[in-house]
Amino acid sequence: KFEKIWLIFGVTALLVFLSVLGVSAFYLGNQPPSCLAVVDPTKVDEHETFKEPGLKKVEGKDWDYELVFVAQAFAYTPGTVEVPLGAKVKVIATSKDVIHGFGVAGTNINMMVEPGYISEIVTTFDKAGEYLVLCNEYCGSGHHLMTSMIKVV
Ligand code: CUA
Repeated sequence: KFEKIWLIFGVTALLVFLSVLGVSAFYLGNQPPSCLAVVDPTKVDEHETFKEPGLKKVEGKDWDYELVFVAQAFAYTPGTVEVPLGAKVKVIATSKDVIHGFGVAGTNINMMVEPGYISEIVTTFDKAGEYLVLCNEYCGSGHHLMTSMIKVV
């Protein structure tokens, strides 16, 4: 008798779990949670933020600079950029084609860069040096060549 109760309980718990999973996958599936803003991947060059990639000083925000990257197989624009030591920087990136990665060696920066979406992270480079930016999502034959360099000076 008790076995039956436990069986019903178990099956019910499983069904509840699966439906929660299903519903959340349905609602969240199309939108990566870290990417809130959208950009038309075919109009990246005309986009207010992305038409001039690189470092920009900004006023009246919680960060001092915005560092804009455009990813396209198999390179980032800019390929090299200088960032002042200790500045609070918001890294902003999008892709023109497929999903790329954006990992900065020696830091905890590790983002996905997706066509159609804007990926952002705020960081401070506290140590001078050269930081290699690496693509950590396989994006095709040139994936392993896809890098950029952030020089903290
Ligand atoms: Cu871009 Cu791998």
